[in-house]
Amino acid sequence: MYKAIDSNDITYFKSILGERCFTNNDLLKEYGHDETEDLSFLPEVVLKPETVEEVALIMKYAHQHAIPVTPSGARTGLSGGALPIEKGIALTMEKFNKIIEIDEKNLQVTTEPGVITQVLQNAVKEKGLFYPPDPASKGSCFIGGNVSENSGGPKAVKYGVTKDYVLNLEVVLPTGEVIWTGANVLKNSTGYNLTQLIVGSEGTLAIITKIVFRLIPHPTNDLTLLVPFFDAEKACEAVAAIFRAGITPSGLEFMERDALIWTQKFTQDETIKVADNHQAHLLIEVDGFDNDILMQECEKIMSVLENFETDEILFAESQAQKDSLWSLRRKVGEAVKSQSIYKEEDTVVPRFELPTLLHHVKRIGNQYGFKSVCYGHAGDGNLHINIIKGDLSDEKWENELPIAIRELFTEVVKLGGTISGEHGIGLVQKPYMDIAFPDVTLNLMKQIKLLFDPKSILNPGKIFV
Ligand code: LAC
Ligand code: ZN
Repeated sequence: MYKAIDSNDITYFKSILGERCFTNNDLLKEYGHDETEDLSFLPEVVLKPETVEEVALIMKYAHQHAIPVTPSGARTGLSGGALPIEKGIALTMEKFNKIIEIDEKNLQVTTEPGVITQVLQNAVKEKGLFYPPDPASKGSCFIGGNVSENSGGPKAVKYGVTKDYVLNLEVVLPTGEVIWTGANVLKNSTGYNLTQLIVGSEGTLAIITKIVFRLIPHPTNDLTLLVPFFDAEKACEAVAAIFRAGITPSGLEFMERDALIWTQKFTQDETIKVADNHQAHLLIEVDGFDNDILMQECEKIMSVLENFETDEILFAESQAQKDSLWSLRRKVGEAVKSQSIYKEEDTVVPRFELPTLLHHVKRIGNQYGFKSVCYGHAGDGNLHINIIKGDLSDEKWENELPIAIRELFTEVVKLGGTISGEHGIGLVQKPYMDIAFPDVTLNLMKQIKLLFDPKSILNPGKIFV
């Protein structure tokens, strides 16, 4: 169905890109993996365009010749979205690394997609502005990848996810045409919302070459609490109660006992004393512009928590202590992965159902004999479930685990949730899409894909089986 790359193709790519066309094995290997498990699929060529015109020429040629193109960002993804599973071209956007304009009059920023998320956040912060979405990998991931996956992160609970900030996109279609999807305005009822269709489409519909985000004023103050619980389900129950008391924290993160212990070992920062009976922690942040109001919010949170069997609450006293707590939280994923072969699920349920979800995770784990370490964005009902291989046999891991995951996702959907909150479907979750959607919905999505990409050359083999 796809054409293998030959010397004529390479000659053509070199005529456009000169030296920015690579076929050496080391580079093919580098672009053959992201952060998803230990998966690796080598492309045949790595192309590093610098301009939208170059991307358009590459796509036009790839479309004519039916060559697969896998867009590549910083390859920090956790669902295999950037893996070139059909070989062909890995099209890296790393040269698109300029912030084009910070528009202080309208509180907007126009950027290229290869800018590191934290670099963008810091640049707008210098102007007193805030771009809130902050995935755990914010120090290394690209903003274009965040748009492609509709990334979230801890701040999403108060400020929303990437989609809530995207106003307009310049994209190259799989056939090589260049379009803007919307307008640089805060309201828009003009035609279908192509901007939001591209957001979260995991690089399957178009290549993003420019992004316009809205920004908000940067909060000046924040307070952080770390709360130990004697019972993990109780910690999950406390989450919805905090919102019902009228507080919207700017971070409300859950860490199961092992998540915190393993991360402290991994980072060699064991300053938090986890007692034998601490089964889980909530990391809670409130932010705003007035410290007195934040103190009142913390007091209200603490009075809510009195009903949920907590131990002594740690109130972060310095910026350094806040940074170290958040750094611990951001490293949980990495720490858990360093322990064992694992699989990570990214479930999300309506917030009140979180305790029931955790209960099902442990019940199914007991039934199938696997251990799990759970953590994540509890305020959003978004639970990351790391399933640990440990000493499970290969046979069980390969054959029984997918059945257990299917059972778990079925419970998630029954609770009103879905199978990915922020990591995307990519390659590794696509066998489970039938749990999230009936055929009629999946077929609609597949027809949209074909309308954009009639030869299915762009990021082939992702999202749908
Ligand atoms: C986190 C990533 C794994 O929340 O989403 O740490
Ligand atoms: Zn997360």
